[in-house]
Amino acid sequence: MSYLLIIGAKSDIAKELAKEYSHRGYDLFLAARKSKELQEFAKDLSIRTQRDIKLMELDILRFESHRSFYNSLPHKPFGVISAVGYLGDQKKGESDFREARKIIDTNYTGVVSLLNIIADDFSKRGSGFIVGISSVAGDRGRKKNQLYGSAKAGLSAYLSGLRNRLHDSKVHVLTVKPGFVATKMTEGMDLPSSLTARPSETAKDIYKAQKKGKNVIYTKWIWCWIMMIVNRIPERIFKKMNF
Ligand SMILES: NC(=O)c1ccc[n+]([C@@H]2O[C@H](COP(=O)([O-])OP(=O)(O)OC[C@H]3O[C@@H](n4cnc5c(N)ncnc54)[C@H](OP(=O)(O)O)[C@@H]3O)[C@@H](O)[C@H]2O)c1
Repeated sequence: MSYLLIIGAKSDIAKELAKEYSHRGYDLFLAARKSKELQEFAKDLSIRTQRDIKLMELDILRFESHRSFYNSLPHKPFGVISAVGYLGDQKKGESDFREARKIIDTNYTGVVSLLNIIADDFSKRGSGFIVGISSVAGDRGRKKNQLYGSAKAGLSAYLSGLRNRLHDSKVHVLTVKPGFVATKMTEGMDLPSSLTARPSETAKDIYKAQKKGKNVIYTKWIWCWIMMIVNRIPERIFKKMNF
């Protein structure tokens, strides 16, 4: 049996990933906080795909629980995808360190804590893949999402180092950098439709990239070019910009 572990499984992108992989014959561990809320979704998907789908309880901020969480899985997964994320409140985080810390720990520290444990197991087994959903926000810091962006920058660098570290162990690491995706996270935001992906599109891009053994992808692909331009803006101009 080949189980894929999806963490942050209540995310809109994660749910589409669950559909994508289960329709292609994979069994799933869906890990989330209040995972019972996924019962209907999992039951329906399991009936449609005839795959085994197990719900697991996981809070990425409870670092001390991560080892026992991983050890409690009834089968070792052949791959893991992290879709955990928290945009948070940038303004609040500027004056309230608890909010700043929640943003940093959800997007970076918590994911690192769990992926370190999984990477160690995959490395010993000499197989597996790790997909981390980071963000274009990590490519260059902006005032509007400075805390979230800096945590995602840390995650992108962590995944890059992990790819390098695990290369000889035949473990594949994919960094995913979405631009805008229409999910719970961006609800109510006025996003340009031509630059905004549906969660199902993002999931398809991730599936294809994982199968092809890609290292880093931007989704939608146009974000690769957008970020190339953004990264080339001189700092003396960038620091005055309002976007
Ligand atoms: N939407 C975008 O435009 C966009 C752009 C770039 C990158 N991303 C990234 O894409 C990934 C998926 O996000 P999404 O857009 O699908 O948004 P989403 O639906 O809000 O998903 C984020 C998920 O993270 C989970 N989470 C937050 N804190 C957690 C914790 N302490 N323990 C366990 N799970 C926790 C949330 O769980 P609950 O459901 O329990 O709150 C939620 O299901 C995230 O990493 C996000 O940063 C999104």
